[in-house]
Amino acid sequence: MNENQVSNTSLWTAYMRAYHCIHATDKIFDDFLAYDLVPEDVREQIEQQIIPEVFLPATNNIVTRARYTEDILEETIRQGVNQYVILGAGMDTFALRRQDLMENLKVFEIDQPTTQDFKLQRYAELGWKIPENLYFVPIDFTKQNLETELTHLPSYDPEAKTFFSWLGVTNYLTREEVETTLRSIANITSSGSILVFDYIDINELNLNKQSEQLQKSTEYLEKVGEPRKTGGFNSLRLAEDLASLGFNLVENLSPSDIERRYLKRCTDIQHSLRYMNFACAVIK
Ligand SMILES: C[S@@+](CC[C@H](N)C(=O)[O-])C[C@H]1O[C@@H](n2cnc3c(N)ncnc32)[C@H](O)[C@@H]1O
Repeated sequence: MNENQVSNTSLWTAYMRAYHCIHATDKIFDDFLAYDLVPEDVREQIEQQIIPEVFLPATNNIVTRARYTEDILEETIRQGVNQYVILGAGMDTFALRRQDLMENLKVFEIDQPTTQDFKLQRYAELGWKIPENLYFVPIDFTKQNLETELTHLPSYDPEAKTFFSWLGVTNYLTREEVETTLRSIANITSSGSILVFDYIDINELNLNKQSEQLQKSTEYLEKVGEPRKTGGFNSLRLAEDLASLGFNLVENLSPSDIERRYLKRCTDIQHSLRYMNFACAVIK
């Protein structure tokens, strides 16, 4: 992705959370700030580009991954987690939306500087106050080392029980970049800290004939300048791969698992993205 460009996909995912919040009859995730966060002209541009057969499954994917993450986060906060690192945060609104959970929590949003600047400017335009315990840390995973950047911050405590989320990002990195970042996470936090992330099952990429859903989303990502790289995993080998990087896999949800858990009452023809999986792992 061009580092001088605000992430287009981060605006799309915020738009999708807003769309779900406004239109869903069976609400999975309530991002009531997302609509205002996406500027009107951006909303209009997005609306002109929507391909319904991709938009609805992608929206279901975005809201289920957010729900999955924040359900586990909330549970772990009750168990004593007091730092939350959002890797590739984009337009994530957790810190403002869940002020009920912010009292004993420090939140670190990591993203590329241009996207963070855009978000900060938008918060200022909307008059939204940034909580004192929310830190914006500009990092490009392809150029900087997460370990070095986070451990330099006086506010970040490597001894604390920490929750990391990494949603919608591994897709845009190479496998090597993903592994480097995973090693950094394992190195900068205490045993028992938690990571939730989503990933593309590389078996889907390797198929002789990829699904139409996957082909269309690949074409779209190329068009908006955020092409997919190969940072996925073979879902059948995920436990071994993570173990070699310092993690114990706790849960690995396939698209069918996700649909069964969250989308049973969904009437869309294609409920979710058939190539995206969610995983939860604990640092050894
Ligand atoms: C699809 S958006 C997801 C945003 C957010 N996590 C969500 O679920 O709505 C991908 C995010 O990853 C960020 N990202 C992509 N490549 C990155 C990199 N090399 N370093 C840091 N952030 C990156 C983008 O700027 C963008 O905010």
